[in-house]
Amino acid sequence: MSGGVVIIGGSGHLGSRIVQSWLSETDMPITIITRAESEASFTNDARISVHKGDYTSVAFLKEAMTGQSVLVCAMGLTATPESVELVYKTAAAVGVKWIIPQGWGNDWQNPRLAARVPPMSAAKASRSMITELGIPYTGFITNPWLDWNISSGLFSIDVASRKATLYTGAVTRFNTTTLSQVGLAVVRFVRQLLQPGPDFKIEDYRDREVYISSFLLTQKELLEAVQQATNTTAGDWKVETQDVQAYIRDGESLMSQGQFMKGLFQVLFGCLYSEGFGGDYESDKGVNNAVLGLPQEDLVLELRKAIKG
Ligand SMILES: NC(=O)c1ccc[n+]([C@@H]2O[C@H](COP(=O)([O-])OP(=O)(O)OC[C@H]3O[C@@H](n4cnc5c(N)ncnc54)[C@H](OP(=O)(O)O)[C@@H]3O)[C@@H](O)[C@H]2O)c1
Repeated sequence: MSGGVVIIGGSGHLGSRIVQSWLSETDMPITIITRAESEASFTNDARISVHKGDYTSVAFLKEAMTGQSVLVCAMGLTATPESVELVYKTAAAVGVKWIIPQGWGNDWQNPRLAARVPPMSAAKASRSMITELGIPYTGFITNPWLDWNISSGLFSIDVASRKATLYTGAVTRFNTTTLSQVGLAVVRFVRQLLQPGPDFKIEDYRDREVYISSFLLTQKELLEAVQQATNTTAGDWKVETQDVQAYIRDGESLMSQGQFMKGLFQVLFGCLYSEGFGGDYESDKGVNNAVLGLPQEDLVLELRKAIKG
């Protein structure tokens, strides 16, 4: 596939890792689209060209995407569905050949998860839209990012106050991926799209999800690794337990009582730990780490880096 790569949201948690990996893994140029109001700055590298402008302007988006073959979408959660849609439509209008869409999370294709977490349907809808626009896509299923979610406390492990809640009941292992692993996976994949190796069959990746992972573990194993990473012992922590179904039900109540995001994360993480909701996609579907040559990472080391910030 000839042409270049353009990323939108390239200054974000994920986008910056993709750009960083792109620069270290390839010698090809990269185009970054950034909002007019953005205060982001980018590495001073001759291979980066930045287009700053108004995301409601089709003319701006066209100018920024023309001549590009692959579009990587890594816009923040606050990007409206309308603006994401306009980006996809404009990509189609200027002849972008492949889209790596928004998503970057849990396995929206798991029917039980999709039924329990209504926003999961957005991933399905956006992929259908891209297909209707006539562009192939490849999505990335990463589950919660290890480092981002340890920092945010969403695993119910509060590093600063050394408090944790472990969920009980029908719980299981789950996959989690570091941001650097996601960044590397995207770069290795896009490089294959642009310069396919002898074993890479582009059609194998058309209109489907790629599953990647850094670790497959239980929440308890994660807590133990955090204790190792912080040079603490179980005795230094206050650990409570809660039934996972009660945690999910609490989340659903919060969602319907005006605390939508808080409740949503609770439901999402409760489902992550629960059997049958696709949290362990590695056992169900396998992961694509090997084909992308992703490295084996060290859990405690990655946690130390995340906690240090
Ligand atoms: N798996 C996980 O654990 C996890 C966690 C968080 C997010 N996610 C997913 O990954 C995607 C990227 O997340 P992220 O944390 O990297 O995002 P982020 O850092 O919050 O934002 C990424 C970039 O998007 C641009 N942006 C910010 N607000 C925007 C808006 N309202 N409209 C359009 N662009 C906007 C900004 O770039 P400029 O300033 O350069 O314009 C920002 O640097 C999210 O959409 C979400 O779906 C997954």
